[in-house]
Amino acid sequence: MKLWGGRFEGNIDPLAMQLNASINIDKRMWDVDIRGSVAWARALAKASVITKAEANEMCAGLQAVWSEFNTGEFKIVTGDEDIHTAVERRLGEIIGATAGKLHTGRSRNDQVATDFRLWLIEAIDLVIKRLDLLQDSLIAKAEAEFDVILPGYTHTQRAQPILFSHWLMSHFWALERDRERLRQTRARTASLPLGAAALAGTAYPIDRVALAHDLGFVIAAPNSLDAIGDRDFAVEFLFDAALIGSHLSRLADALILYSTSEFNFVEMSDAYSTGSSLMPQKKNADMLELARGKAGTLLGYLTGLMATLKGLPSAYDKDLQEDKAPVFAAFDTLDVMLPVIAGTITTMKVNRGRMLKAVDASLLATDLADYLVKRGVPFRQAHGIVGRAVRLAADAAVGIDQLSLSQLKSLSESFDQDVRSVFDPRLALTMRDGIGATGFESVRRQIESAKQIRVIDESHGDDYYWHRRQIERAKIMQDAS
Ligand code: ARG
Repeated sequence: MKLWGGRFEGNIDPLAMQLNASINIDKRMWDVDIRGSVAWARALAKASVITKAEANEMCAGLQAVWSEFNTGEFKIVTGDEDIHTAVERRLGEIIGATAGKLHTGRSRNDQVATDFRLWLIEAIDLVIKRLDLLQDSLIAKAEAEFDVILPGYTHTQRAQPILFSHWLMSHFWALERDRERLRQTRARTASLPLGAAALAGTAYPIDRVALAHDLGFVIAAPNSLDAIGDRDFAVEFLFDAALIGSHLSRLADALILYSTSEFNFVEMSDAYSTGSSLMPQKKNADMLELARGKAGTLLGYLTGLMATLKGLPSAYDKDLQEDKAPVFAAFDTLDVMLPVIAGTITTMKVNRGRMLKAVDASLLATDLADYLVKRGVPFRQAHGIVGRAVRLAADAAVGIDQLSLSQLKSLSESFDQDVRSVFDPRLALTMRDGIGATGFESVRRQIESAKQIRVIDESHGDDYYWHRRQIERAKIMQDAS
Protein backbone atom coordinates (compact mmCIF):
# COMPACT_ATOMS: atom_id res chain seq x y z
CA MET A 1 0.00 0.00 0.00
CA LYS A 2 1.41 3.36 -1.05
CA LEU A 3 -0.05 6.64 0.16
CA TRP A 4 0.48 8.01 -3.32
CA GLY A 5 -0.11 4.98 -5.55
CA GLY A 6 -3.21 6.14 -7.43
CA ARG A 7 -1.68 7.86 -10.41
CA PHE A 8 1.04 5.23 -10.89
CA GLU A 9 0.96 2.27 -13.25
CA GLY A 10 4.39 0.78 -12.86
CA ASN A 11 6.16 -0.28 -9.68
CA ILE A 12 9.02 1.60 -8.12
CA ASP A 13 12.51 0.18 -8.59
CA PRO A 14 13.54 -1.66 -5.39
CA LEU A 15 16.72 0.36 -4.94
CA ALA A 16 14.84 3.60 -5.58
CA MET A 17 12.39 2.51 -2.90
CA GLN A 18 15.26 1.88 -0.52
CA LEU A 19 16.70 5.31 -1.24
CA ASN A 20 13.30 6.94 -0.85
CA ALA A 21 12.43 5.30 2.45
CA SER A 22 13.23 7.11 5.68
CA ILE A 23 11.53 4.73 8.09
CA ASN A 24 14.78 3.48 9.60
CA ILE A 25 15.61 6.98 10.69
CA ASP A 26 12.23 8.56 11.39
CA LYS A 27 10.66 5.60 13.19
CA ARG A 28 11.88 7.10 16.46
CA MET A 29 9.25 9.80 15.96
CA TRP A 30 6.43 7.26 16.41
CA ASP A 31 5.22 8.80 19.64
CA VAL A 32 5.00 12.37 18.35
CA ASP A 33 3.54 11.20 15.05
CA ILE A 34 0.69 9.49 16.86
CA ARG A 35 0.12 12.43 19.20
CA GLY A 36 -0.01 14.75 16.18
CA SER A 37 -2.58 12.49 14.52
CA VAL A 38 -4.74 12.33 17.65
CA ALA A 39 -4.78 16.14 17.78
CA TRP A 40 -5.55 16.31 14.06
CA ALA A 41 -8.46 13.86 14.39
CA ARG A 42 -9.91 15.97 17.21
CA ALA A 43 -9.46 19.16 15.17
CA LEU A 44 -11.22 17.56 12.18
CA ALA A 45 -14.17 16.64 14.41
CA LYS A 46 -14.28 20.11 15.95
CA ALA A 47 -14.47 21.54 12.43
CA SER A 48 -17.26 19.02 11.65
CA VAL A 49 -15.18 17.48 8.85
CA ILE A 50 -15.63 14.09 10.51
CA THR A 51 -18.04 13.02 13.23
CA LYS A 52 -17.17 12.81 16.92
CA ALA A 53 -17.70 9.04 16.72
CA GLU A 54 -15.21 8.76 13.85
CA ALA A 55 -12.69 10.82 15.74
CA ASN A 56 -13.12 8.63 18.81
CA GLU A 57 -12.65 5.53 16.71
CA MET A 58 -9.46 6.99 15.23
CA CYS A 59 -8.12 7.99 18.64
CA ALA A 60 -8.79 4.54 20.09
CA GLY A 61 -7.07 2.99 17.06
CA LEU A 62 -4.14 5.34 17.37
CA GLN A 63 -3.90 4.45 21.05
CA ALA A 64 -3.67 0.80 20.05
CA VAL A 65 -0.90 1.57 17.56
CA TRP A 66 0.85 3.56 20.26
CA SER A 67 0.73 0.57 22.60
CA GLU A 68 2.24 -1.66 19.94
CA PHE A 69 5.17 0.72 19.56
CA ASN A 70 5.44 1.11 23.30
CA THR A 71 5.74 -2.62 23.90
CA GLY A 72 7.99 -3.15 20.90
CA GLU A 73 5.36 -5.29 19.16
CA PHE A 74 4.91 -2.98 16.20
CA LYS A 75 6.09 -4.62 12.97
CA ILE A 76 7.46 -2.48 10.20
CA VAL A 77 6.56 -4.05 6.84
CA THR A 78 7.77 -3.58 3.28
CA GLY A 79 6.13 -0.50 1.90
CA ASP A 80 6.29 1.41 5.20
CA GLU A 81 8.09 4.27 3.54
CA ASP A 82 8.25 6.42 6.63
CA ILE A 83 6.75 6.59 10.11
CA HIS A 84 3.67 8.46 8.87
CA THR A 85 2.93 5.74 6.31
CA ALA A 86 3.53 3.00 8.86
CA VAL A 87 1.19 4.47 11.48
CA GLU A 88 -1.58 5.12 8.95
CA ARG A 89 -1.19 1.62 7.47
CA ARG A 90 -1.50 0.00 10.88
CA LEU A 91 -4.42 2.23 11.89
CA GLY A 92 -6.26 1.02 8.76
CA GLU A 93 -5.59 -2.59 9.70
CA ILE A 94 -6.99 -2.00 13.18
CA ILE A 95 -10.03 0.24 12.57
CA GLY A 96 -10.73 -0.27 8.88
CA ALA A 97 -12.12 2.31 6.47
CA THR A 98 -12.46 5.20 8.95
CA ALA A 99 -8.66 5.36 9.04
CA GLY A 100 -8.82 6.67 5.49
CA LYS A 101 -10.38 9.91 6.76
CA LEU A 102 -7.50 10.83 9.07
CA HIS A 103 -5.38 12.41 6.36
CA THR A 104 -8.19 14.77 5.26
CA GLY A 105 -6.83 18.28 4.78
CA ARG A 106 -3.35 17.26 5.88
CA SER A 107 -0.17 16.36 4.02
CA ARG A 108 2.93 14.52 5.11
CA ASN A 109 4.66 17.83 4.49
CA ASP A 110 3.02 19.60 7.41
CA GLN A 111 2.86 16.34 9.34
CA VAL A 112 6.58 15.63 9.24
CA ALA A 113 7.48 19.22 10.12
CA THR A 114 5.08 19.03 13.08
CA ASP A 115 6.42 15.69 14.28
CA PHE A 116 10.00 16.83 13.99
CA ARG A 117 9.36 20.00 15.96
CA LEU A 118 7.47 18.12 18.65
CA TRP A 119 10.30 15.63 18.91
CA LEU A 120 12.92 18.39 19.10
CA ILE A 121 11.11 20.37 21.79
CA GLU A 122 11.30 17.32 24.03
CA ALA A 123 14.85 16.52 22.99
CA ILE A 124 15.92 20.06 23.90
CA ASP A 125 14.40 19.64 27.34
CA LEU A 126 16.47 16.50 27.79
CA VAL A 127 19.69 18.17 26.63
CA ILE A 128 19.02 21.00 29.08
CA LYS A 129 18.65 18.42 31.86
CA ARG A 130 22.00 16.90 30.89
CA LEU A 131 23.56 20.36 30.84
CA ASP A 132 22.15 20.95 34.33
CA LEU A 133 23.93 17.85 35.51
CA LEU A 134 27.28 19.01 34.15
CA GLN A 135 26.77 22.51 35.52
CA ASP A 136 25.91 21.04 38.92
CA SER A 137 29.10 19.02 38.86
CA LEU A 138 31.14 22.15 38.06
CA ILE A 139 29.50 24.12 40.89
CA ALA A 140 29.94 21.26 43.36
CA LYS A 141 33.61 20.89 42.41
CA ALA A 142 34.14 24.65 42.63
CA GLU A 143 32.73 24.59 46.16
CA ALA A 144 34.65 21.50 47.23
CA GLU A 145 37.98 22.84 45.91
CA PHE A 146 37.11 26.46 46.48
CA ASP A 147 40.46 27.85 47.67
CA VAL A 148 42.81 25.77 45.50
CA ILE A 149 45.27 28.06 43.70
CA LEU A 150 46.90 27.24 40.38
CA PRO A 151 48.56 29.16 37.57
CA GLY A 152 46.16 30.64 35.08
CA TYR A 153 47.49 30.20 31.55
CA THR A 154 47.40 32.27 28.42
CA HIS A 155 49.14 30.91 25.29
CA THR A 156 49.60 27.80 27.48
CA GLN A 157 52.22 29.83 29.38
CA ARG A 158 51.93 30.42 33.10
CA ALA A 159 50.39 33.87 33.50
CA GLN A 160 48.89 34.76 36.89
CA PRO A 161 47.60 32.86 39.92
CA ILE A 162 43.88 32.08 39.84
CA LEU A 163 41.49 30.00 41.90
CA PHE A 164 40.74 26.56 40.50
CA SER A 165 37.10 27.27 41.35
CA HIS A 166 37.29 30.31 39.05
CA TRP A 167 38.58 28.10 36.26
CA LEU A 168 35.77 25.60 36.82
CA MET A 169 33.20 28.38 36.81
CA SER A 170 34.57 29.76 33.55
CA HIS A 171 33.24 26.58 31.96
CA PHE A 172 29.97 26.84 33.85
CA TRP A 173 29.23 30.20 32.20
CA ALA A 174 29.92 28.92 28.71
CA LEU A 175 27.42 26.12 29.34
CA GLU A 176 24.96 28.61 30.79
CA ARG A 177 24.97 30.46 27.47
CA ASP A 178 24.35 27.11 25.78
CA ARG A 179 21.31 26.59 27.99
CA GLU A 180 20.00 29.99 27.03
CA ARG A 181 20.52 29.30 23.36
CA LEU A 182 18.68 25.99 23.63
CA ARG A 183 15.74 27.62 25.36
CA GLN A 184 15.55 30.25 22.67
CA THR A 185 15.77 27.59 19.98
CA ARG A 186 12.99 25.72 21.74
CA ALA A 187 10.81 28.85 21.73
CA ARG A 188 11.24 29.29 17.97
CA THR A 189 10.61 25.58 17.43
CA ALA A 190 7.20 25.90 19.06
CA SER A 191 5.52 27.24 15.90
CA LEU A 192 2.99 24.80 14.48
CA PRO A 193 3.17 23.79 10.78
CA LEU A 194 0.11 21.50 10.93
CA GLY A 195 -2.70 22.94 8.85
CA ALA A 196 -0.27 24.20 6.22
CA ALA A 197 -1.11 20.97 4.35
CA ALA A 198 0.97 20.26 1.24
CA LEU A 199 1.91 23.89 0.63
CA ALA A 200 -1.18 26.06 0.22
CA GLY A 201 -2.88 25.65 3.59
CA THR A 202 -5.71 23.30 4.50
CA ALA A 203 -9.07 23.74 2.78
CA TYR A 204 -10.97 22.78 5.96
CA PRO A 205 -12.03 25.19 8.72
CA ILE A 206 -9.46 23.98 11.24
CA ASP A 207 -8.82 26.19 14.29
CA ARG A 208 -5.04 26.17 13.97
CA VAL A 209 -4.46 28.24 17.11
CA ALA A 210 -6.44 25.78 19.23
CA LEU A 211 -4.60 22.94 17.49
CA ALA A 212 -1.27 24.61 18.28
CA HIS A 213 -2.15 24.90 21.96
CA ASP A 214 -3.49 21.36 22.03
CA LEU A 215 -0.08 20.10 20.90
CA GLY A 216 1.89 22.42 23.20
CA PHE A 217 2.96 24.87 20.50
CA VAL A 218 2.87 28.60 21.16
CA ILE A 219 1.74 29.86 17.76
CA ALA A 220 0.40 28.55 14.46
CA ALA A 221 2.96 29.19 11.71
CA PRO A 222 1.86 32.30 9.78
CA ASN A 223 2.76 31.17 6.25
CA SER A 224 2.04 27.72 4.83
CA LEU A 225 4.93 27.70 2.34
CA ASP A 226 7.39 28.74 5.02
CA ALA A 227 5.84 26.36 7.55
CA ILE A 228 6.55 23.21 5.56
CA GLY A 229 9.98 24.22 4.25
CA ASP A 230 11.39 25.88 7.35
CA ARG A 231 14.11 23.84 9.05
CA ASP A 232 15.73 26.75 10.86
CA PHE A 233 14.89 25.09 14.16
CA ALA A 234 16.93 22.03 13.18
CA VAL A 235 19.86 24.18 12.10
CA GLU A 236 19.66 26.19 15.29
CA PHE A 237 19.69 23.05 17.37
CA LEU A 238 22.69 21.74 15.44
CA PHE A 239 24.46 25.04 16.02
CA ASP A 240 23.67 24.87 19.74
CA ALA A 241 24.96 21.30 19.78
CA ALA A 242 28.11 22.16 17.85
CA LEU A 243 28.87 25.01 20.22
CA ILE A 244 28.29 22.77 23.24
CA GLY A 245 30.71 20.37 21.57
CA SER A 246 33.23 23.15 21.16
CA HIS A 247 32.84 24.17 24.80
CA LEU A 248 33.27 20.60 25.99
CA SER A 249 36.32 20.16 23.79
CA ARG A 250 38.00 23.19 25.36
CA LEU A 251 37.23 21.95 28.86
CA ALA A 252 38.45 18.50 27.84
CA ASP A 253 41.64 19.74 26.27
CA ALA A 254 42.71 21.59 29.42
CA LEU A 255 41.94 18.56 31.58
CA ILE A 256 43.88 16.27 29.25
CA LEU A 257 46.87 18.57 29.68
CA TYR A 258 46.37 18.85 33.45
CA SER A 259 46.22 15.07 33.80
CA THR A 260 49.60 14.44 32.12
CA SER A 261 52.50 13.39 34.38
CA GLU A 262 54.15 16.68 33.39
CA PHE A 263 51.33 18.71 34.96
CA ASN A 264 49.81 16.18 37.33
CA PHE A 265 47.24 18.74 38.50
CA VAL A 266 44.31 16.31 38.32
CA GLU A 267 43.78 12.59 38.17
CA MET A 268 40.79 11.08 36.39
CA SER A 269 38.89 8.32 38.13
CA ASP A 270 39.22 4.78 36.76
CA ALA A 271 35.52 4.94 35.92
CA TYR A 272 36.28 7.47 33.19
CA SER A 273 39.65 6.25 31.97
CA THR A 274 40.88 3.43 29.78
CA GLY A 275 44.16 1.62 29.48
CA SER A 276 46.43 0.54 26.65
CA SER A 277 46.35 -2.96 25.16
CA LEU A 278 50.14 -2.83 24.89
CA MET A 279 51.57 -0.53 27.57
CA PRO A 280 50.55 -1.74 31.02
CA GLN A 281 51.30 1.57 32.76
CA LYS A 282 49.00 3.68 30.61
CA LYS A 283 45.88 5.41 31.90
CA ASN A 284 44.28 7.46 29.20
CA ALA A 285 41.65 10.18 29.48
CA ASP A 286 39.67 8.74 26.57
CA MET A 287 36.37 10.32 27.56
CA LEU A 288 37.92 13.76 27.33
CA GLU A 289 39.56 12.95 24.01
CA LEU A 290 36.21 11.76 22.70
CA ALA A 291 34.62 15.01 23.83
CA ARG A 292 37.31 16.84 21.88
CA GLY A 293 36.90 14.59 18.85
CA LYS A 294 33.11 14.65 18.77
CA ALA A 295 33.17 18.44 18.66
CA GLY A 296 34.35 18.02 15.07
CA THR A 297 31.62 15.54 14.25
CA LEU A 298 28.95 17.82 15.73
CA LEU A 299 30.22 20.70 13.63
CA GLY A 300 29.93 18.42 10.59
CA TYR A 301 26.24 17.79 11.29
CA LEU A 302 25.62 21.53 11.29
CA THR A 303 27.50 22.28 8.08
CA GLY A 304 25.91 19.26 6.40
CA LEU A 305 22.35 20.42 6.99
CA MET A 306 23.19 24.02 6.13
CA ALA A 307 24.55 22.81 2.80
CA THR A 308 21.40 20.75 2.17
CA LEU A 309 19.13 23.73 2.78
CA LYS A 310 21.06 26.20 0.69
CA GLY A 311 19.32 27.02 -2.57
CA LEU A 312 16.15 25.01 -1.88
CA PRO A 313 13.01 26.61 -3.29
CA SER A 314 10.34 27.40 -0.70
CA ALA A 315 7.82 24.75 0.41
CA TYR A 316 8.74 21.05 0.57
CA ASP A 317 11.42 19.24 -1.41
CA LYS A 318 12.58 15.72 -0.68
CA ASP A 319 16.02 17.09 0.15
CA LEU A 320 14.43 18.00 3.48
CA GLN A 321 14.24 14.34 4.42
CA GLU A 322 17.97 14.67 5.12
CA ASP A 323 17.20 16.85 8.13
CA LYS A 324 16.55 14.21 10.77
CA ALA A 325 19.65 12.01 10.77
CA PRO A 326 22.07 14.76 11.84
CA VAL A 327 19.69 16.13 14.47
CA PHE A 328 19.11 12.67 15.97
CA ALA A 329 22.84 11.96 15.90
CA ALA A 330 23.69 15.28 17.57
CA PHE A 331 21.12 14.60 20.26
CA ASP A 332 22.39 11.06 20.86
CA THR A 333 25.94 12.36 21.16
CA LEU A 334 25.07 14.99 23.76
CA ASP A 335 22.74 12.65 25.60
CA VAL A 336 25.70 10.43 26.48
CA MET A 337 28.59 12.84 26.43
CA LEU A 338 27.22 15.41 28.88
CA PRO A 339 26.65 12.91 31.72
CA VAL A 340 30.04 11.31 31.07
CA ILE A 341 31.83 14.64 31.31
CA ALA A 342 29.80 15.47 34.43
CA GLY A 343 30.95 12.19 35.95
CA THR A 344 34.53 12.89 34.94
CA ILE A 345 34.44 16.27 36.72
CA THR A 346 32.73 14.91 39.83
CA THR A 347 35.16 12.04 40.31
CA MET A 348 38.46 13.63 39.33
CA LYS A 349 41.05 14.06 42.04
CA VAL A 350 42.48 17.53 42.41
CA ASN A 351 46.16 17.70 43.32
CA ARG A 352 46.22 20.99 45.18
CA GLY A 353 49.89 20.66 46.19
CA ARG A 354 51.04 20.29 42.57
CA MET A 355 48.91 23.21 41.50
CA LEU A 356 50.24 25.53 44.17
CA LYS A 357 53.81 24.46 43.48
CA ALA A 358 53.40 25.57 39.87
CA VAL A 359 52.57 29.08 41.06
CA ASP A 360 56.16 30.36 41.00
CA ALA A 361 57.04 33.91 41.94
CA SER A 362 57.26 35.08 38.32
CA LEU A 363 53.45 34.80 38.16
CA LEU A 364 53.38 37.73 40.56
CA ALA A 365 55.43 40.00 38.28
CA THR A 366 52.29 41.98 37.43
CA ASP A 367 51.55 42.43 41.12
CA LEU A 368 55.12 43.58 41.63
CA ALA A 369 54.55 46.23 38.96
CA ASP A 370 51.27 47.18 40.70
CA TYR A 371 53.28 47.54 43.94
CA LEU A 372 55.42 50.18 42.23
CA VAL A 373 52.35 51.85 40.73
CA LYS A 374 50.97 52.27 44.25
CA ARG A 375 54.18 54.14 45.05
CA GLY A 376 53.63 56.57 42.24
CA VAL A 377 55.65 54.91 39.45
CA PRO A 378 53.79 55.12 36.08
CA PHE A 379 52.73 51.62 35.00
CA ARG A 380 54.73 51.59 31.75
CA GLN A 381 57.88 52.38 33.72
CA ALA A 382 57.01 49.87 36.46
CA HIS A 383 56.57 47.19 33.77
CA GLY A 384 60.12 47.89 32.53
CA ILE A 385 61.61 47.81 36.03
CA VAL A 386 60.00 44.49 36.88
CA GLY A 387 61.07 43.13 33.50
CA ARG A 388 64.66 43.94 34.41
CA ALA A 389 64.14 42.29 37.82
CA VAL A 390 62.94 39.12 36.05
CA ARG A 391 66.06 39.16 33.86
CA LEU A 392 68.32 39.75 36.87
CA ALA A 393 66.75 36.79 38.67
CA ALA A 394 67.01 34.58 35.58
CA ASP A 395 70.71 35.44 35.18
CA ALA A 396 71.27 34.45 38.81
CA ALA A 397 69.11 31.36 38.32
CA VAL A 398 66.81 32.31 41.21
CA GLY A 399 63.15 33.32 41.50
CA ILE A 400 62.32 37.04 41.56
CA ASP A 401 61.21 36.58 45.15
CA GLN A 402 64.81 35.67 45.98
CA LEU A 403 66.32 38.98 44.86
CA SER A 404 67.64 40.97 47.80
CA LEU A 405 66.14 44.33 48.65
CA SER A 406 69.37 46.05 47.58
CA GLN A 407 69.23 44.28 44.21
CA LEU A 408 65.64 45.50 43.77
CA LYS A 409 66.57 48.98 44.95
CA SER A 410 69.30 49.07 42.30
CA LEU A 411 66.45 48.91 39.78
CA SER A 412 64.09 51.34 41.56
CA GLU A 413 64.32 53.36 44.76
CA SER A 414 60.57 52.79 45.22
CA PHE A 415 61.09 49.20 46.42
CA ASP A 416 60.90 48.79 50.19
CA GLN A 417 60.96 46.13 52.92
CA ASP A 418 57.20 45.41 52.52
CA VAL A 419 57.79 44.20 48.96
CA ARG A 420 58.01 40.64 50.38
CA SER A 421 54.25 40.49 50.92
CA VAL A 422 53.75 40.79 47.14
CA PHE A 423 55.06 37.26 46.70
CA ASP A 424 52.12 35.67 48.47
CA PRO A 425 49.70 34.47 45.80
CA ARG A 426 46.82 34.72 48.27
CA LEU A 427 47.40 38.47 48.43
CA ALA A 428 47.27 38.65 44.63
CA LEU A 429 43.86 36.95 44.80
CA THR A 430 42.60 39.21 47.58
CA MET A 431 43.44 42.18 45.37
CA ARG A 432 41.03 40.90 42.70
CA ASP A 433 37.55 40.99 44.16
CA GLY A 434 35.73 43.00 41.53
CA ILE A 435 32.90 41.59 39.37
CA GLY A 436 34.15 38.60 37.41
CA ALA A 437 37.65 38.56 38.92
CA THR A 438 39.37 35.59 40.55
CA GLY A 439 39.38 36.86 44.16
CA PHE A 440 37.98 34.73 46.96
CA GLU A 441 34.98 36.96 47.56
CA SER A 442 34.14 37.52 43.91
CA VAL A 443 34.28 33.81 43.06
CA ARG A 444 32.05 33.12 46.05
CA ARG A 445 29.52 35.63 44.67
CA GLN A 446 29.91 34.14 41.21
CA ILE A 447 28.97 30.70 42.51
CA GLU A 448 26.02 32.22 44.37
CA SER A 449 24.64 33.96 41.27
CA ALA A 450 25.23 30.80 39.22
CA LYS A 451 22.96 28.93 41.63
CA GLN A 452 20.29 31.63 41.71
CA ILE A 453 20.16 32.18 37.99
CA ARG A 454 19.15 28.59 37.41
CA VAL A 455 16.40 28.72 39.99
CA ILE A 456 14.42 31.38 38.13
CA ASP A 457 14.30 29.16 35.06
CA GLU A 458 11.71 27.04 36.79
CA SER A 459 9.40 30.01 37.35
CA HIS A 460 9.37 30.89 33.64
CA GLY A 461 7.55 28.18 31.78
CA ASP A 462 6.91 30.04 28.56
CA ASP A 463 10.16 30.58 26.74
CA TYR A 464 8.51 32.37 23.90
CA TYR A 465 8.80 35.49 26.00
CA TRP A 466 12.39 34.72 26.94
CA HIS A 467 13.41 38.39 26.91
CA ARG A 468 11.40 38.88 30.12
CA ARG A 469 13.48 36.17 31.68
CA GLN A 470 16.64 37.79 30.33
CA ILE A 471 15.89 40.96 32.25
CA GLU A 472 15.40 39.03 35.47
CA ARG A 473 18.60 37.07 34.92
CA ALA A 474 20.63 40.20 34.29
CA LYS A 475 19.35 41.62 37.55
CA ILE A 476 20.41 38.53 39.48
CA MET A 477 23.87 38.51 37.92
CA GLN A 478 24.47 42.15 38.78
CA ASP A 479 22.91 42.04 42.26
CA ALA A 480 24.86 38.97 43.30
CA SER A 481 28.02 40.69 42.12
N1 ARG B 1 9.60 11.05 4.92
C1 ARG B 1 9.40 12.40 4.51
C2 ARG B 1 10.38 13.33 5.23
O1 ARG B 1 10.96 12.92 6.16
C3 ARG B 1 8.00 12.82 4.85
C4 ARG B 1 7.46 13.87 3.95
C5 ARG B 1 7.22 13.29 2.63
N2 ARG B 1 6.52 14.23 1.79
C6 ARG B 1 6.42 14.03 0.49
N3 ARG B 1 5.78 14.91 -0.19
N4 ARG B 1 7.04 13.05 -0.11
O2 ARG B 1 10.60 14.44 4.80
